[in-house]
Amino acid sequence: MSHQPGQGPVQITTEEIQARIQELARKIEADHAGRVPHLICVLNGAFPFFADLVRAIQMPVTVDFLQASSYGDAQESTGEVKLVKDLQFPIKDRDVIVVEDIVDTGLTLKYLMQYLEGRHPSSLRIASLLSKPSRRKAEITIDYLGFTIPNAYVYGFGLDRAQLDRNLPFITSEEPGSDE
Ligand code: XMP
Ligand code: MG
Repeated sequence: MSHQPGQGPVQITTEEIQARIQELARKIEADHAGRVPHLICVLNGAFPFFADLVRAIQMPVTVDFLQASSYGDAQESTGEVKLVKDLQFPIKDRDVIVVEDIVDTGLTLKYLMQYLEGRHPSSLRIASLLSKPSRRKAEITIDYLGFTIPNAYVYGFGLDRAQLDRNLPFITSEEPGSDE
């Protein structure tokens, strides 16, 4: 039911993704001159974006990983978030960039940001490959955004359809009629 008249499926090509990642890397470099940013990958969906982004950044960085899972429906966040895998390294006084695949309602990131702020980083910014602003329930400022998309369920480049298709090197949306 999410398709609007005249609006085709979301298609973001490998070339478009890689070009945008380069632009975001330049912005991250400029914002962190003389610092060593600490990039945190939010598993699972962010892993391809994270791997390409850290390799595009031409300055020293450190990395860590965390995993959050929301209770309930797999395609919609409830806001009740459980930390499945915690950070390995301290973030106190670090310049942290949280790297997500997609900000949808924003409830997952709202929870994660509160959690990370409590550990007193020097700065805390967000990078997300995708954003669906039409579904936002929590106010989230995305410092490094790849693409804004309409309200369609997308998959590929880390995003899954029932755990499959994370390995596609592009992003697309389900065919009309096959979702919801
Ligand atoms: P919230 O709503 O808390 O949720 O911002 C973000 C998480 O919801 C999942 N999500 C999607 N996963 N295609 C996906 O494969 C989508 O279109 C989509 N929209 C939301 C995803 O796990 C994300 O981290
Ligand atoms: Mg995710």
